[in-house]
Amino acid sequence: MTTYRIAPSILSADFARLGEEVRNVVAAGADIIHFDVMDNHYVPNLTIGPLVCQAIRPHVDVPIDVHLMVKPVDRIIPDFAKAGANIITFHPEASEHVDRSLQLIRDHGCKAGLVFNPHTPLHYLEHVMDKIDMILIMSVNPGFGGQSFIPQALKKIEQARRMIDESGRDIMLEVDGGIKADNIAAAAAAGADTFVAGSAIFGKPDYKAVIDAMRAELAK
Ligand code: DX5
Ligand code: ZN
Repeated sequence: MTTYRIAPSILSADFARLGEEVRNVVAAGADIIHFDVMDNHYVPNLTIGPLVCQAIRPHVDVPIDVHLMVKPVDRIIPDFAKAGANIITFHPEASEHVDRSLQLIRDHGCKAGLVFNPHTPLHYLEHVMDKIDMILIMSVNPGFGGQSFIPQALKKIEQARRMIDESGRDIMLEVDGGIKADNIAAAAAAGADTFVAGSAIFGKPDYKAVIDAMRAELAK
């Protein structure tokens, strides 16, 4: 049986009360905290860095999943590892040396993964599959929360699931962008097991009600 994980993106949280927000969302049933790092260069928005990761770390005991939307990639990796990140993913086209960046993440004791934009082909995985712990399929163009799910992502999730199954390795398959209770089952049917949701959770007053509704869809 598949283990499903709900990974709230704190991009849509109230940053003035971030410690309380992450505690509340974990108490509501979150399995992972998804941490979106944007640099106003690789993507047209600017968010949070290692200092904020370090600040929330003592508030939660679930894994912190750092999604790097930055270019260059390598120099920020050690800082996030030191700040308590557990998983670090990056966009392959933002790194000059994808294999080296994956190895760097693992050398710092974190799980490593690649992120695929709606237009980015999965062939980047081909020769590095042995260094991959997570594949993240973007179902929006990165940069902002609250966008609509791009249905073409489902085909790519299916393709990534086939690649994971063929590899025989234990690799998480995460989907990010526009995930809500009404489309989470479709993403799971395509093969995703880890679901990022920002506005769907933090946009509502009752986080537990949203997470419970998502789990109910996954259990159908
Ligand atoms: C987009 C980020 C997402 C985003 C998801 O660039 O990577 O993690 O916060 O937000 P929603 O769930 O609102 O689409
Ligand atoms: Zn993200």
